[in-house]
Amino acid sequence: VERGGQALDRLIVDVADYPQPGIVFKDITPVLADHDALVAVVGGLATAGRDADGAVHVDKVVGMEARGFILGPPVALDLGVGFVPVRKAGKLPREAHAVTYALEYGEATLELHRDAVRPGERVLLVDDVLATGGTAAATRDLVERCGGVVVAVAVLLELTFLPGRDAVAGVPVTALRPV
Ligand code: PRP
Ligand code: MG
Repeated sequence: VERGGQALDRLIVDVADYPQPGIVFKDITPVLADHDALVAVVGGLATAGRDADGAVHVDKVVGMEARGFILGPPVALDLGVGFVPVRKAGKLPREAHAVTYALEYGEATLELHRDAVRPGERVLLVDDVLATGGTAAATRDLVERCGGVVVAVAVLLELTFLPGRDAVAGVPVTALRPV
């Protein structure tokens, strides 16, 4: 990511007043469309699943609907582990754990199949953005209800003016682009 750093920054587009007035949306779709940038981002996120000596120390990658479904699977392939989806409410067909968490306005529910993470498994969470940390914290809760442990969080963007890291206290967060 460092080598292509400036290119990566150019490919993250600020969109003013989306989805609401006053919000600046960070559009990462140009990053996805650029092969070199995509390779750099996937490789960068995957470092969160490896020790300093390169050994993979996670058993699963968990990604959160929807944008975690884009970045999570290639990271899982890079690490040689499986991918597990955390879905928004009502989408999983089998027995699932559910966690409801507060949004700025209202609330949201995320779900995880009960048998998708096995007791003792070590999990890397992958998503595009860490903002308030609500999504990551709810997902950690889901993984723990399965008996797993979240050992690392990896995101492309971290909104550093928000306390997202505090929401997953004790878990190291790798953010390729703090903004
Ligand atoms: C976005 C983003 C992260 C989350 C970060 O998801 O993709 O998952 O918000 O915010 P937080 O740290 O405050 O929880 P969102 O559900 O808005 O949209 P998506 O379905 O496109 O991923
Ligand atoms: Mg999301």
